[in-house]
Amino acid sequence: MSISKVASTKVTLENSVEQRLQVQHLVAANRVVVPNTGNDVIKGLTQTPKTIPACYFYDDQGSELFEQICELPEYYLTRTETAILQEYAGEIAQITGACELVELGSGSSTKTRILLDAYQELDYPLRYLPIDVSAGILESSARQLLADYPSLQVHALAGTYELALAQLVPTQLPNRMIAFIGSTLGNLQPQECDLFLSQITNALQVGEYFLLGIDLQKPKNILEPAYNDRQGVTAAFNLNMLAHLNQRFEGNFDTAQFEHWAFYNETANQIEMHLRSLRSQTVELKALNVTVNFSPGETILTEISRKFDLETIQQQLTAQGLTPLHVWTDPQQWVGLLLCQLQN
Ligand code: AVJ
Repeated sequence: MSISKVASTKVTLENSVEQRLQVQHLVAANRVVVPNTGNDVIKGLTQTPKTIPACYFYDDQGSELFEQICELPEYYLTRTETAILQEYAGEIAQITGACELVELGSGSSTKTRILLDAYQELDYPLRYLPIDVSAGILESSARQLLADYPSLQVHALAGTYELALAQLVPTQLPNRMIAFIGSTLGNLQPQECDLFLSQITNALQVGEYFLLGIDLQKPKNILEPAYNDRQGVTAAFNLNMLAHLNQRFEGNFDTAQFEHWAFYNETANQIEMHLRSLRSQTVELKALNVTVNFSPGETILTEISRKFDLETIQQQLTAQGLTPLHVWTDPQQWVGLLLCQLQN
């Protein structure tokens, strides 16, 4: 097995970026509410309390602001998870063997490089399937990676996790690992989380892997500053969601008439991010044919960011057939990285 893989790696070394890149745009079948197409915005803004799905943070500007958040001194999550990956990527590659890497919400693929390096170190073939709703970022980061890893093959899927997971075809490599890092799982409500994990289970074959990165429970005085940074980047990120909706759906939100509000809900173990209306106002989203009234102080929930307990999440994963083989964390136990395997 390893001999033929080394041979195929040599062949692809001569191939150009174009030959090693495939970008597939996923389309949804007929459904009432399709994520990321506006129906979910109408639903969220016409209910009480108002909400907008967190996926609307990530237009080009929002993705750029998120990259800036990751660098903030208060935002420990990215740098802690990166350190854990750096320390244990070699071990992960040893355990999984030659393996196709599927990544959900790949964004700029910065942390992916650590995993790719580990597989390259072991002379394994490199095959990467990044999945992201933002097609622009997907393609530009794929090109960057292809330029830096001459043997890498990329099959990018532009679309929602749900669509991508449902459409994954069996891998050509000996194994597969779906990576979901950065604690994006924390954006899902407990029920959505169960559904999501079952979609992971359905997308994997027995023996394949799921790598999960999660933010762990920690004191409020660490958590709240991470979502209320002194430079106001998180506030800009939150408010940008309204600008994104304006552009996307011909809206007239005045971002100066809303403010960022984030706090740790200790009962639900989650950060909640809201946008608070500073006055009574009416907003129209022409393309969605919807008019929304706000009373002074009324809020829109834009994100929950759940903070997990390692024991509980391990039980949940096990219950879904995704047995945790290894759990890694940092010295302060702020972030967890779990390598799970689908059981029969
Ligand atoms: C990408 C969902 C992990 O919840 O910490 C960062 C997004 N929101 N600052 C998080 C986010 C505000 C982030 N996740």
